[in-house]
Order: sequence, then structure tokens, then C-alpha cells
Amino acid sequence: SHPVHIHHKHLDFNSVQELPDSYAWSQVDDHYPNCHDVDSFGASESVPIIDLADPNALKLIGHACKTWGVFQVTKHGISKNLLDDIESLGRTLFSLPVQDKLKAARSPEGVSGYGFARISSFFPKLMWSEGFTIVGSPHDHFRQLWPHDHSEFCGIIEEYKKEMNRLAGKLMWLMLGSLGISKSDIKWAGPKGEFKGATAALQLNSYPACPDPDRAMGLAAHTDSTLLTILHQNTTSGLQVQREGTAGWVTVPPIHGALVINVGDLLHILSNGMYPSVLHRAVVNRSCHRLSIAYLYGPPESVQISPLSRLVSRSHPPLYRSVTWNEYLGTKAKHFNKALSSVRLFS
Ligand code: SIN
Ligand code: FE2
Repeated sequence: SHPVHIHHKHLDFNSVQELPDSYAWSQVDDHYPNCHDVDSFGASESVPIIDLADPNALKLIGHACKTWGVFQVTKHGISKNLLDDIESLGRTLFSLPVQDKLKAARSPEGVSGYGFARISSFFPKLMWSEGFTIVGSPHDHFRQLWPHDHSEFCGIIEEYKKEMNRLAGKLMWLMLGSLGISKSDIKWAGPKGEFKGATAALQLNSYPACPDPDRAMGLAAHTDSTLLTILHQNTTSGLQVQREGTAGWVTVPPIHGALVINVGDLLHILSNGMYPSVLHRAVVNRSCHRLSIAYLYGPPESVQISPLSRLVSRSHPPLYRSVTWNEYLGTKAKHFNKALSSVRLFS
């Protein structure tokens, strides 16, 4: 047998032939499906796919948000080239030797850099994934990773963030528009509704092929603490969502060029509970490396998020108290996966 050196905090996934106990989730999650079953629980429906150029897009988006809290979009205006570029940047980054990636490790208090999934600390087992978070400029980290060609990589990140920001604003108005909300209803969105000052993070996720996928977990079940998340996944499946009130997991199949849009907790609050923030997770597989790029979109730091007054009435009292994004993140750290209930006004 091969002696495999496993550093407790940073596993070299490619050198592992047997799943270490610290990564074995089988006892934790006993209804863990095979990742290749598209609908392992007989789900008869799949996550909606919406063409943004469809004249009915507004209505379709509203319905998807109410019933799933997630949908895929096509004709979103992000070029295939840019999607390919960010994907190959991710591939290049994660294929660096572990010791190189660790040069850009996220510090314990920091937000940017290489490391385990941020939610790892809420779970008893380790996840079969690695991530790279970029908040603000990627320059310092990228200079360490690629002393000679970091500026090219930084350019791709900047372009991707700019395009995602534009798409996120457009999606916000489509998602809210189908609830009858217009630009004048959200003061902090600015006079033109451009959501100036919105904060965002780019999260690159890598899920290496896994020797024992049925017992491992790529990313444990969670909702996003965002307004919305735009996810680009490569051709390997792995993302699964749970529809509210059901127990099964439904795979969101990768569609070339499409993007997955999640309702996040803060949009759930804004919508006064009309749009559920979708519970999702990522599973892994034996043979294919999977990559995903998530754009996490949230409000400006100082903005208080509370149910929009147009969605509040005597028969629909406000379900949640108002919180800033930071305050909500603090709540989430204390009450993981129950954070929404902890800011609920009435039970
Ligand atoms: C995420 O939830 O941040 C990523 C999910 C995925 O990799 O599909
Ligand atoms: Fe997520």
C-alpha cells in the first residue's frame, strides 16, 4: 500500500487512493444518492430553464422563484468566450501544485484566497473540494501564483466581475419585477436602479475526482447568504437542489453556456418569504474533475434589508426584521442553516 501523507488542513487530493475517515460523510447523510442519477428520488420535474430573450421571461422567472428558488438562464448576454476564459483560469489555478496554491492561502480572518469551503467549520466532516475566493482585487494573490502573467488573469477576473454585476442587476429587476416591484420601491438601488455599491465575491470551486464518491461530499447543503448567486458550472454535473417541502435532491444538469441563478437569503427576506432561498449542495464523482464559478451578489454594506413595504400588508405582515448583510452573516455563523428563522419576527 502507498503511504499517503495527509496534512490535516490541506489535502493533496490527487495523491489519495482511499477516502480518509475525516472525509467520510456516509454516516452523516444516510440518504446520499449516486451523483449520476439525475433524479434519484423519482423527481418528475426539473429546474426551469429560461431564455432571457423570451417575451414571457418575467412571468417565467417569477414562477421559478416562487416554486424552486432556482432556475437556469440562457441568452443572458455573457459571451461564451468569457465563460470559457474564466473556466480555464479556474482550471489553471487549481492544477497548480498544492504548495503553490498555499502561497495564496486565505488567512483565518481574511476573505480572499485559497482554502476549504467557507462553510466547512459548520460540519463535522471535511468536504472533497477546494476553493478560491476573490473579494476586491485579485492582484496580490495572483502575483504570488503567477509572477509573470498575473495581469492577464486579473484582466479576465475584472471583466467577468463587471459582466456579472450587470447581469445581476438585470436579474434583480426581473425577479422583483414579477412581484410588482419597480425601481422607485428600492431607494438604495439608486435613481436608475443600477444597484451602485452592491458588494460581490467571486468564488471558484474545484471538486477533484474522488476515489469513493458515495461516501464523500463536495459541498454540504446550504442556502446562499446573498441576494442572488450566478453560478457557472463546467460540463460535469454535481449541483443538486432541494425543493422546499420535499426531501429528495434534484440534479441541476450542466447546460453549455447556461448559468444557474439561486435566490439567496437576502432576496428571500426582501420578498417577505415569497421567494424561498434554495437549499443546495455539490456531490462528487469518481472520474471527472468538476469546476464551478459562483458570483455572490449582495447589497451595499450599510444597507438594511427588510421585507419590501409593497409586499407587506395586514394579511401579510413582515416576516423578518431588518438586517445588514454583515449582520446577517454573523447570524448565519451562529445559526447555520437556521439563520432565516433567527431573524423571523413571528413564528
Ligand atoms: C456553491 O454552492 O457555492 C457551489 C455549488 C456548485 O459547485 O455547484
Ligand atoms: Fe452555494
